[in-house]
Amino acid sequence: MDVKVLIEKALEAKKNAYVPYSNFRVGACLLTEDDKIYTGCNIEIASYSPTICAERTAIFKAVSEGHRKIKAIAVVGDSNYTFPCGVCRQVMREFGKNVSIIIANSLDDYKIYTLDELLPNSFGPEDLEK
Ligand code: THU
Repeated sequence: MDVKVLIEKALEAKKNAYVPYSNFRVGACLLTEDDKIYTGCNIEIASYSPTICAERTAIFKAVSEGHRKIKAIAVVGDSNYTFPCGVCRQVMREFGKNVSIIIANSLDDYKIYTLDELLPNSFGPEDLEK
């Protein structure tokens, strides 16, 4: 996995963020198990609640094209190390139990986490198997 490629594409996707209300841009880029790359940005809506984060945009693009396993996802935002929100962490849990989460400020300044670090003791699809 080339971390820098994912960060570079996340930075590129961030430029497409549609953020007229928060003015807070986020970009994401993920790698699927079969090495396909999908990017996403946050998209805000005037009534606020339909707003979607960059991470979920990228994940839903991948899943809607048939890729249900995510190996890694890079996230870049306007704050110093922008971490995924709780909802996005749960969506990552669904499609990437072993995902590496790259939180980047730039190509040379990033940290890598496991999902278990960011969402410990999680609830997931296996819990519903009976
Ligand atoms: N946002 C993301 O896109 N990803 C995150 O991980 C945190 C928050 C977006 C949602 C909203 O458009 C803006 O950032 C401010 O919350």
